[in-house]
Amino acid sequence: MFQSKIAGLGYYVPKNVYTNNDLTRFMETSDEWIQERTGIKERRYADRIGETTTSMGVEAAKIAIERANTTAEEIDFVIFATLSPDYYFPGCGVLLQREMGMKEVGALDVRNQCSGFVYALSIADQFIKTGMYKNILVVGSEKHSFALDFSTRGRAVSVIFGDGAGAVVLQPTTEDGKGILSTHLHSDGADAEKLAMYYPGASAGYYLEEMPEWPDVELGQMLMTKEMLEDGSAFPYMDGQAVFKKAVVKFPEVIGEALAKNNLKSTDINMLIPHQANLRISQFVQKTLGLNDDQVFNNIQKYGNTTAASVPIALCEAWEEGKIKDGDLVCLAAFGAGFTWGSALIRW
Ligand code: UT7
Repeated sequence: MFQSKIAGLGYYVPKNVYTNNDLTRFMETSDEWIQERTGIKERRYADRIGETTTSMGVEAAKIAIERANTTAEEIDFVIFATLSPDYYFPGCGVLLQREMGMKEVGALDVRNQCSGFVYALSIADQFIKTGMYKNILVVGSEKHSFALDFSTRGRAVSVIFGDGAGAVVLQPTTEDGKGILSTHLHSDGADAEKLAMYYPGASAGYYLEEMPEWPDVELGQMLMTKEMLEDGSAFPYMDGQAVFKKAVVKFPEVIGEALAKNNLKSTDINMLIPHQANLRISQFVQKTLGLNDDQVFNNIQKYGNTTAASVPIALCEAWEEGKIKDGDLVCLAAFGAGFTWGSALIRW
């Protein structure tokens, strides 16, 4: 069995900065409310046309590939995590493979929302461990701004999310004790509807507590209607408090699971990179684990919640700022829609 290491990492955020005050142009909200509840000061939105989930992923991937001292032609597998794909199908993995001129390698999309990158990293780790692949590109990228409700009706959700991308290249390592030590993945579908975008979807609202009364929906027209846009049901739904309550339990739990598996304790962590869901959640997790400020990295203040991109963006930024050094114990952890959650423990 091989051990895998992060050989290169990169991130990309769009140039368009939207501060909390900028959002007051579209909805009734305030800088004070957003900062107090979430810690977010500003976020980035991609260009409406021309900048896509894939194109942002490509920009992050180029940096990760270069830093891994390899080339796009040498990548032998692609895993792309996103909840905001360019198309309903096919996935962004193949679009990236095309954009980057890669060989006819396998390309897989992961649809696990906030925990998508940790899931994708875990999959890549298994392929490296078995020796099946030697150079895997793992990308997390999101263009949330295309489908948020920017009216006051949607403010509890729309102020939180931002656009961006992060990427890593995974390679085998022979350095003893280095690389990904373990990954841990979980789900509980009982609350699937508490954080979800129901449409377009083939269920036509079947699982919802109050199933919509459809007029005569024609065969082939159940994906998205004008009424869904008008009544807001076309936009993502979130029961924020339910998500918050579960997140503050599951984050420490899955981090604890990773530490126990490796006979380590929370004070051994040099850097925790939590999914940037809400600064209050990260602070709660930090307190529960008894970590100091310099053991946890947060950048939600600048980028908002970028879902599958948040962990690789934060990881890369922490590394670029010199906060992750050779031999450090790095823990990645994420929780989100599904609910799904996971962790990865890495000896850098
Ligand atoms: O990546 C994982 C996904 N998401 C999360 O982890 C999110 C977890 N949850 C949260 O972060 C919090 O629940 C939120 C930040 C989303 C919301 O905070 P909250 O303290 O749960 O607020 P709330 O939704 O209960 O709303 C409280 C009040 C309401 O007004 P009333 O009914 O008390 O008059 C809302 O209408 O705040 C109002 N409100 C806003 N006011 C100004 C909701 N959104 C906004 C807003 N600006 N953007």
